[in-house]
Amino acid sequence: MRIPERLLLGPGPSPVSPRVMQAMTSPVISHLDPVMMTLLDDLRQRLGWAFGAGEGAFSLAVSGTGTSGMEAAVANVTRPGARALVVVSGYFGDRLSQLLERYGAAVSRVTVEWGRACDPDQVARALSAGGADIVAVVHAETSTGVVNPVEEILAIARGHGAVSIVDAVTSLGALPLRTGRWHADVTYSCTQKGLGAPSGLSPMTFSARALEARAPSRSFYLDLSLLEDYWVRRKYHHTISAPLVFALHEALTAIEEEGLEPRWERHRRNHLALAAGLDALGLALLPPEPERLWTLNAVRVPDGIDEAAVRRQLLDEFSIEIGAGLGPLAGRIWRVGLMGSGSTLANVLLFLTALEHVLRKSGYRGGSPSTAVAAAESA
Ligand SMILES: Cc1ncc(COP(=O)(O)O)c(C=O)c1O
Repeated sequence: MRIPERLLLGPGPSPVSPRVMQAMTSPVISHLDPVMMTLLDDLRQRLGWAFGAGEGAFSLAVSGTGTSGMEAAVANVTRPGARALVVVSGYFGDRLSQLLERYGAAVSRVTVEWGRACDPDQVARALSAGGADIVAVVHAETSTGVVNPVEEILAIARGHGAVSIVDAVTSLGALPLRTGRWHADVTYSCTQKGLGAPSGLSPMTFSARALEARAPSRSFYLDLSLLEDYWVRRKYHHTISAPLVFALHEALTAIEEEGLEPRWERHRRNHLALAAGLDALGLALLPPEPERLWTLNAVRVPDGIDEAAVRRQLLDEFSIEIGAGLGPLAGRIWRVGLMGSGSTLANVLLFLTALEHVLRKSGYRGGSPSTAVAAAESA
């Protein structure tokens, strides 16, 4: 089967660099091979570093995509009847609230308009009114392109004694994230966005407090104690995928070489370049400026333009993938991701050129013709 080469500029997966692809071609070894154990020890340390984890934290990668990390977070802190407060500012906050309900929590929601960040006062008011055992929030809401003020929200949650769950699926390795300094208790992510590996593992970190406050897990596969038996005590639990471990290890090595902060800065710069280019094209981003993600740009579809046809033409003519809107934003936004090795100025310029070509062919007359690339470059 011939698989086309795509430029992955959607909400994830992001492009996988040749060195990470190469790492996956190493010989397959078993999940209990001494070399695998050394790799897992190393991964724990590197993941702790990438998360900015604090003293006594336990970091690992759960087998499965970001949703498995979300479920593992919920499964290991939720006791039946626990009161959970969830910030729902988009599709993934909603998914988090559904999972908490499935695990028996009594869920209340802080509902935020899609396209806006949560005001921490909303969380403070909800906690003062009803309290909570668990506070859950999505750091980078991929469905709306918005970054939530997680540090402030966690400080409030902590003041009320709640254990926190943070979704860092679209922020790890790309946006400032410091789980230790912010006192995040359980944080999970994915491999296929800011880290630049294929999907299939979900990096997680549990603070010392979360390890103490853990609840008996109803899930066998995602039970933290059984996972610790494997990762620390080398006891069989499941057959982790060797190629995915190699890929994650190589991706983290590349991040270490680049440096976390320079990498965040690269994501910021390329986001700003794209935003300037889109502005020259007469296109607007959904969230207001200070609330925008650097990894995911939610672009409003101009009136009279068929959003699906534009995505299809980008794919057919340029082999560029971008994402559609989810839920209430379906048909109203495009989601353009600049993540991991995909966050480059070259990709920004190529995308702007391709988008302008496709839009003009569709009859779009907004913005100033042929100025987007120059605007991006000067930004
Ligand atoms: C913020 C957020 N949380 C969770 C997920 C679920 O991750 P996955 O699709 O890897 O299961 C996603 C996926 O895009 C996401 O963007």
